[in-house]
Amino acid sequence: MLSQAGGNVLQVVFQCLGTLMAGNSAGSFLTTMPKTTPPANGQNQSGKSAAKSSNAAKAAVRNTDSGPARTRPAAGGDVLAEKMAQTEALAAAMPFNATKAAEHGFANATQPQQGATAEPASRLPTASTLSEENGTEKTGSVAPEGVNAAIEPLDRVRVDSSGQGLTTNQGVAVSDNQNSLKFGLRGPALLEDFVLREKVTHFDHERIPERIVHARGSGAHGFFECHAPLTQYTKAAPFKEAGKITPVFVRFSTVAGERGSKDTARDVRGFAVKFYTDEGNWDLVGNNMPVFFIQDAMKFPDLVHAVKPEPHHQMPQAASAHDTFWDFVSLMPESTHMLMWVMSDRAIPRSFATMQGFGVHSYRFVNDAGESVFVKFHWNPTAGTHSLVWDEAVKISGADPDYHRRDLWERIESGAYPEYELGVQIFTEAQAEQFSFDILDATKIIPEELIPVQPVGRMVLNRNPDNFFAETEQVAFCTAHVVPGIDFSNDPLLAGRIHSYVDTQISRLGGPNFHEIPINSPIAPVHNNQRDGMHRQAIPRGRVAYEPNSLAGGCPFQAGAAQGFVTVPARLQAQEEQAKVRGKPEKFADHYTQATLFYESQTPAEQAHIAAAFRFELSKVTVPAIRQRTVSMLRNASEALAKKVAEGLGMDTLPDAMPLALAQPAKPEVTVSPPLSLMARPGDGSIKARKIALLVAPGVMGESMAQVQAALLAEGAVPRLVAPHIGSVATAEGKTLDADASLENEPGFLFDALVLPDGQAAVDALAKDGHTMEFIKDQYRHGKTILALGAASALLEKAGVPATLPDGKPDVGLIIAPSGSAADAVATFIKGIALHRHPERETDPPRV
Ligand code: HEM
Repeated sequence: MLSQAGGNVLQVVFQCLGTLMAGNSAGSFLTTMPKTTPPANGQNQSGKSAAKSSNAAKAAVRNTDSGPARTRPAAGGDVLAEKMAQTEALAAAMPFNATKAAEHGFANATQPQQGATAEPASRLPTASTLSEENGTEKTGSVAPEGVNAAIEPLDRVRVDSSGQGLTTNQGVAVSDNQNSLKFGLRGPALLEDFVLREKVTHFDHERIPERIVHARGSGAHGFFECHAPLTQYTKAAPFKEAGKITPVFVRFSTVAGERGSKDTARDVRGFAVKFYTDEGNWDLVGNNMPVFFIQDAMKFPDLVHAVKPEPHHQMPQAASAHDTFWDFVSLMPESTHMLMWVMSDRAIPRSFATMQGFGVHSYRFVNDAGESVFVKFHWNPTAGTHSLVWDEAVKISGADPDYHRRDLWERIESGAYPEYELGVQIFTEAQAEQFSFDILDATKIIPEELIPVQPVGRMVLNRNPDNFFAETEQVAFCTAHVVPGIDFSNDPLLAGRIHSYVDTQISRLGGPNFHEIPINSPIAPVHNNQRDGMHRQAIPRGRVAYEPNSLAGGCPFQAGAAQGFVTVPARLQAQEEQAKVRGKPEKFADHYTQATLFYESQTPAEQAHIAAAFRFELSKVTVPAIRQRTVSMLRNASEALAKKVAEGLGMDTLPDAMPLALAQPAKPEVTVSPPLSLMARPGDGSIKARKIALLVAPGVMGESMAQVQAALLAEGAVPRLVAPHIGSVATAEGKTLDADASLENEPGFLFDALVLPDGQAAVDALAKDGHTMEFIKDQYRHGKTILALGAASALLEKAGVPATLPDGKPDVGLIIAPSGSAADAVATFIKGIALHRHPERETDPPRV
């Protein structure tokens, strides 16, 4: 409690106060107020003069605007007078600001001291009011000592209306929720109808502004579990010991689209994690790609204006395939590396559970001794990295714009919890100086061959939000939210972000108190002197809202270096470079080396998808000069890619390569990095939560379907019986099946794999339905595993599905099982699904 500096003075005062208040336990001073100890000469005082002094003290404290020269302890147990006496003693206990001297000098700047405090003799002098114990059902009791109830777990704001009657927002029971108040049954409505007006007024204000970027998102609760202590590098709370659990809330998002836009747009995905640590909230606000388009926050508004719908006609929605985006990025060659990622299948993930996440910037870890290393954060999904293909993504956008949101929700509800391993790349300042690239440049990765990714913990998402608005919409992430043990690098993009998030949230969430919205409030105690503002919830006790103070015994006091966040006193650049400048380091001018690295590290199928994506996007551009400029930029990254794109765009000749900003970039450490391919992370081989269509129609061999269904369910997959229409389907065995979906309401591209049924009548019925053919063609074209049972091979033929791969080899994703062999075939089918897709089937243009 005591500062070292103020110790002696304060200790003496405490002893006096302790005697004064002997027998008085904290929190109950109003009812057990002890008699004050009389002055030393009290025994000689006549009863008359004692009464006189006590009356003087009582009189002096019964006003709030002035006081006598000296506060006297009040005899006779007068609580107001006692409060004043104790206040005086508390203030006197801090005769000067004991830590003032320590505010100066470099050494103190790196090791701030804990602030001085004095302990009041009782809770009396720091109370706002003497009436605080007059509780009611509404006011409740006295503020519990040292507690900030505004940060309690979400339970305090959960509402369950089961068995409850309807009320107004004032808690008044509503007798009629069907009719407005009218003057007579056919008469005019009355202004007096406060029930109607409250309901409609609230409704009128139900929307808040959507996020400027990342407006479309889906969230989930979960936890982070530390594998082993990382205390050698960081004192950050989540990494303190093996098995330590930290609650998290995660929000995944797209960047460009509006709140109601489709999930499967080609876009970067936000991957924002709020760790509710016991030392405050830490937000790791990352993306599913480890680099970014730009290097300096100064360009962020330009980037976002370029990618958002064009301002004159507000088109296109949630798409980068338009003039202004490509105009901007082709004038910003530093975006080339990120463009490779965005044109790759990373930009169309199969699921939030099958994509990586990255902190992007270099951050710092700081240990107890104040030593610091750089760190980059990686989230690796246990289910592996799997994506859609473009044709599939486009079709899904129409059939199920909530595809990713639904997938996340369903995975969690069914217990197939999304899980990710957190990995860190740790490196020193000395190592950073040796790299061919600058670690402050957000358009660069650190290849894993240089600095391996060490697994440090796992995150499991195991609870859906109870209410989308209260949690997912109101959650406010910010890169500035760090805890002791985590610090920033000088990345200029990060610097802008540190400012931007809180700033935007002030208008999005209606004022400066959004940290008190339950989803945002930390589980660590919050005590400070910030006051007021829109929608304030905390009710601070006492009259002190400043520091230093003596009237609250110095509280809340400066925590000091031992517990508080201390910025790493990072060494700045060489003396001659220390000047106020607007500029970039030279290595930032290497715009292409890592774009080349990324492209060269992809499998042939992935490279083909990148080329097709550039072709698609640029074909949507209406100004040929922008296409030319982009291709001229691509020539610096990959001549082969530039050629393919140019061909696809009908360019007769390749434009000249764009002039280089840095004539001779440093030689890269690696020219191929296999982990950059999505294929490098196939996952744990599980098919949990995968949706499999089992087509059925009257006359289906129900037994074989039941066998397949049971085997898939046992693997945690989601088999769905899809029929020409929903309802009962009679089986060949004389039983019935209930269809879960129809060919029309859940088309083929919504499924990860397909089972075609045995039974001639069923096959004939399905063959007559054009939807079946589209279903099969999409499944084949998108590289899905198909199991055809018995008679169903006729359906494959009718759909024009080739029996072999383009190179004549067998197609392992196409399993044709003779009647009666379903049980054997299903094991091969499951292995095929675990591969996710069979890209070896692909041709450009597609054969089917
Ligand atoms: C490495 C680069 C960046 C990454 C990884 C990134 C990531 C994200 C993510 C994940 C979100 C969504 C948070 C949520 O789910 O609520 C977000 C929102 C946002 N970002 Fe960034 N961002 C980056 C760059 C920037 C920059 C440079 C700025 C501004 C200078 C910026 C400003 C914003 C704003 C204003 C929001 C909306 C926040 C809100 O309304 O709650 N971002 N960003």
